[in-house]
Amino acid sequence: MAKYPLKDQCVLITGANRGIGAAIARAAAERGARVVLGVRDLNDPTSQQVLSHIQQRGESAELIELNMGSRAQIEEFVKRWASRETPHVIVHNAGVLTGGLIESQSVDEIYQSLQVNLVGVAHLTRELLPGMLRRGSGCVVVNSSVSGVMNFPLASTYSAAKTGVLALANCVRAETQGTGVRVLSLLTPGVKTRMFDEIPKRYGAHLDLDFLEVAITPEEWAERICEAIESGAEELHPQGATRAGLWMARHLPGVFQKLVSSKFSRSAK
Ligand SMILES: NC(=O)c1ccc[n+]([C@@H]2O[C@H](COP(=O)([O-])OP(=O)(O)OC[C@H]3O[C@@H](n4cnc5c(N)ncnc54)[C@H](OP(=O)(O)O)[C@@H]3O)[C@@H](O)[C@H]2O)c1
Repeated sequence: MAKYPLKDQCVLITGANRGIGAAIARAAAERGARVVLGVRDLNDPTSQQVLSHIQQRGESAELIELNMGSRAQIEEFVKRWASRETPHVIVHNAGVLTGGLIESQSVDEIYQSLQVNLVGVAHLTRELLPGMLRRGSGCVVVNSSVSGVMNFPLASTYSAAKTGVLALANCVRAETQGTGVRVLSLLTPGVKTRMFDEIPKRYGAHLDLDFLEVAITPEEWAERICEAIESGAEELHPQGATRAGLWMARHLPGVFQKLVSSKFSRSAK
């Protein structure tokens, strides 16, 4: 029996139109949650597909415009939706991958990466937390990455954001002790989505990617996320070799840095 069942809970997911976000939405709806699909474009066919997939099964879902790309767009969402409703669970899932030698990354991409992957998460949490505290229950989920702990060359801006979001989650967890609000950090490994497919293009020229494990499916990871939310876990870790790499980066950071540096070359292949 789940400690915190998702049944009848309102679950807001950012970046819910595809990839891991869409899989979480389907899995939570299957467990009886009322899912609110935060998407950038309501008319995008991917948004409509996730919505109708859930509704055709007789489960509950609504689409809401939520662009995490700027302060003004988040403020607009708060005015329109969050000022009248507080979800039981917020899954901060929307994300963008940036990478390459730091001097070759575009300034626009750097700002966008930090905005969507980190600043927007802090902003939206700030807006939704008071309602959860008043209710005396809630769950804040941040979709970080193994890159938040395993800091590889070429991933500077992405890792900075993903490390930052883990720190944010740790601090909010400490601040909400005893209030009924829980915080779950996802140390997401390689998951077979459009983002995962971008890795060779962005990193492959300078980094030997032979350590990349075969990616798991979004459905597998979404199931584990729902189980973690329902059990009250604080962190969700990958399995297999990635788990061992994560342990090494946390407990033997010098050894880990040496290992990843040996896979890197400044001159392109
Ligand atoms: N896949 C992996 O291997 C992996 C590993 C570690 C962590 N993660 C994390 O998992 C999360 C989901 O990634 P994914 O693999 O599912 O990637 P994905 O398939 O590329 O999906 C990214 C999602 O984020 C949304 N998004 C991007 N910019 C946005 C913005 N400004 N406002 C709102 N939504 C925005 C996208 O919407 P559009 O369709 O509108 O672009 C899309 O729904 C990300 O935070 C990612 O960093 C993924």
